[in-house]
Amino acid sequence: MRFSLTTDKLINVRTEALVVNVFEDEKKLNGPLEELDLALSGAIREILGRKEIVGKLNESLLMHTFGRISSPRVLLVGAGKRRNYCSDQLRMVAGTATRVLRKRNIRKLAFFIEDKIDPSEKSQTIAEGVTLALFEPDTHRTKKEEDKKEVEEVIVGVREGVKEEKIKTALEKGQIIGESVNWSRYLINEPANWATPSRMVEEARKVAQQGELEIEVIDESEAIKRGMGAFAGIAKGSEEPSFMVSLKYFGAGKEKPPIGLVGKGLTFDSGGISLKKDEKMHEMKYDMAGAAAVLGVFKAIGQLKPKINLVGLLPLTENLPSGKAIKPGDVVTALNGKTIEITNTDAEGRVVLADALVYAQEMGAKKLVDLATLTGAVIVALGRGYTGLFGRPQSWVDQLQYAARMTGEKMWQLPVPSEYKEAMRSDVADLDNIGSSGREGGAIKGALFLEEFVEEGVEWVHLDIAGTAWTDGESPYLSKGPTGVGVRTLVRLISDLEAQDGQSQKRKE
Ligand code: BES
Ligand code: MG
Ligand code: ZN
Repeated sequence: MRFSLTTDKLINVRTEALVVNVFEDEKKLNGPLEELDLALSGAIREILGRKEIVGKLNESLLMHTFGRISSPRVLLVGAGKRRNYCSDQLRMVAGTATRVLRKRNIRKLAFFIEDKIDPSEKSQTIAEGVTLALFEPDTHRTKKEEDKKEVEEVIVGVREGVKEEKIKTALEKGQIIGESVNWSRYLINEPANWATPSRMVEEARKVAQQGELEIEVIDESEAIKRGMGAFAGIAKGSEEPSFMVSLKYFGAGKEKPPIGLVGKGLTFDSGGISLKKDEKMHEMKYDMAGAAAVLGVFKAIGQLKPKINLVGLLPLTENLPSGKAIKPGDVVTALNGKTIEITNTDAEGRVVLADALVYAQEMGAKKLVDLATLTGAVIVALGRGYTGLFGRPQSWVDQLQYAARMTGEKMWQLPVPSEYKEAMRSDVADLDNIGSSGREGGAIKGALFLEEFVEEGVEWVHLDIAGTAWTDGESPYLSKGPTGVGVRTLVRLISDLEAQDGQSQKRKE
């Protein structure tokens, strides 16, 4: 699929369908709607007058133009309220249009951006929305070729006089981000008998090769030698080999500390000896969504080449019961020397992340973000619409929250209260992996545990994506299944940090 740019008048654009917004709170026709209405002898006015479409977000109505303009069809799409119109509305409009048209086997479409000033941000959003909407989760369905419908070309129309090079770059960026998210969704969606830790390593190697990144793959015996006893403890129950993978990207001077991205990579979580109830256990193939998101970010970064340094850590393993598996009551020692009593083997994510977080800091990271499908408790607290956001200092949390808001990924901050730390103490070791007081504050206790592996002075955010990494309902640009949550936010965060560095650099000069 390719994106292209035009400054032609709407009615002269040759494509299979023109996509035009209808706003709910706008009674008067103006802009593209007015232009079309004139060319189509009042047809738009009539349709709107009969309230066939009122502009509610994601409504749509396809009309034919019978040779009156260059394009044979117009798709009216509800865009919600123009008042406080935000980028996620536009992403949804782009997604709805793509899905509605593709279903009708329409392969070429065009969007219009009316802005006279800088429409590059909006162009990027459209490219993201279209690309995300094209993802299909049914990789393993055996279907006939002719069923496959593809979108071939998306034209973005802008006013004459805008900076075209900038918009082309923005479209490319949107497509790179969208494709990276989709690729992470593909990995998450793959069954655990395909997406084993070894397969994930192969994928990580490909990303490293394509993006010219450094990669280091630590196997289980090496992990034990280096003191990653927490990771190795969880890994030993499964027969599939497990790996701790690190990726490095240097876009700035080597002396600049890298940002550390850490993703939980449980390719299957059965709970281990503390076996899960069988209800929905098959979903635990998505317990590597954090690692897949980090890989997705590196895939995008390898193409976007920002002036920033990054390290990525992926603890990749299964959590299975066996004669060799870790048992409730066992004690392991993490890379920073802290000892952990494993009172419940199903709270394994935090245990493997402990070593990964410490390793990221050993590699020099002073700012960390971890992504993990860590707790069922975060779903109880926030439902499936919001990622749980934790961390310190507040300025780093705020910066993440800002990036999330700009990309339409919803996150909600929860506290990491030092008063609750007492609950994480063990009678025999430094820490208990689930802590006391049962299910109370489960998502918070997960975060408190992780915080024990972040040194003072290091900035850290923890994203509990257990609820948001997978969706059971369709939305305009996300089908059922894996969402790839985190990739968009982190790429945005990296762009923001790069811009910030650029500015402080200028101030120095
Ligand atoms: N992978 C799960 C968390 C999870 C639950 C992710 C539902 C996605 C959907 C995690 O490893 C886990 O099992 N956590 C336990 C922790 C408990 C034993 C303290 C949980 O949430 O029940
Ligand atoms: Mg193993
Ligand atoms: Zn678990």
